Amino acid sequence: MSRPIRKAVFPVAGLGTRFLPATKVMPKEMLVVVDKPLIQWAVEEAAAAGCTDFIFVTSRGKSMQVDHFDHHEELVQVLTQRGKKAELEAVEAILPPDGRVISTRQPRALGLGHAVWCAKRIVGDEPFAVILPDDMVLADTPCLKQMVEAYNRTGGSVVGVMDVPREHTRRYGILDVAADDRREGSLVPIKGLVEKPAPENAPSTLSIIGRYILQPEIFDHLEKGERGAGGEIQLTDAMARMIGQGPFHGYRFRGTRYDCGDKAGYIAANLAFALERPDLAPAVRAHVKRLAG
Ligand code: UTP
Repeated sequence: MSRPIRKAVFPVAGLGTRFLPATKVMPKEMLVVVDKPLIQWAVEEAAAAGCTDFIFVTSRGKSMQVDHFDHHEELVQVLTQRGKKAELEAVEAILPPDGRVISTRQPRALGLGHAVWCAKRIVGDEPFAVILPDDMVLADTPCLKQMVEAYNRTGGSVVGVMDVPREHTRRYGILDVAADDRREGSLVPIKGLVEKPAPENAPSTLSIIGRYILQPEIFDHLEKGERGAGGEIQLTDAMARMIGQGPFHGYRFRGTRYDCGDKAGYIAANLAFALERPDLAPAVRAHVKRLAG
């Protein structure tokens, strides 16, 4: 029996340089897709996958993300007085139960691996999920829920994966795989992992997106603080050291991934998610048609 995934870690301490100047003061994860900040989409996905504890790894000037999940008494009073029920529901429904939002800091942006390591004491000795909020997946079943269902069959570690064009391998952690039937919803046993390889050196085009289910032993590998690609402490390098120590699979999720850390990807996500909304789709479709025509 696989141990349950109760804790979700959100590493949100990065500098967001690709989105400057928008992210000079405002955290990237507060960028809005349709009508919710990225961090809210991520927390909702974790909750839908059964997570009950939400761990934010933030940094200087990023506490806004934690505030977003706090009770706002003045706002509640005003909305109640004005009879704005839908708006009241929208701000109250996002609040996890008391004590379930936990925040820690990454004092220096030393890389994703270091950000995850900063959550070590809060995660403790149990498997956990990691969601990068700037990776959004539009899917019938939320991506992390699909992964938890796959993990319940295999145990060990599971990372969300998708094929990317070979010329883009330099942007991702890439899998070396033993066998791959290429079907969505399938699990791919991992032989090796390489962070940001040049296209000619990439062992495949199967890349890791911002969804992970990890075993607590990952912290032992992150502890060493070894620098990898770009001089950063890479999560991929620590994961690579766990291969062979237990089941380790890539999961080809069902759905479409949008890279919201990138301007074009972010705009595409807004359109795609708006087109899913019955109240917005007709107007958005008309705008797109006019602009494209
Ligand atoms: P990115 O590679 O997207 O980096 O990090 P970034 O700093 O957010 O953005 P750019 O590339 O400069 O535009 C992937 C995820 O890892 C987190 C980020 O917040 C993001 O969610 N991260 C990255 C940290 O929390 N700490 C780090 O030191 C690096």
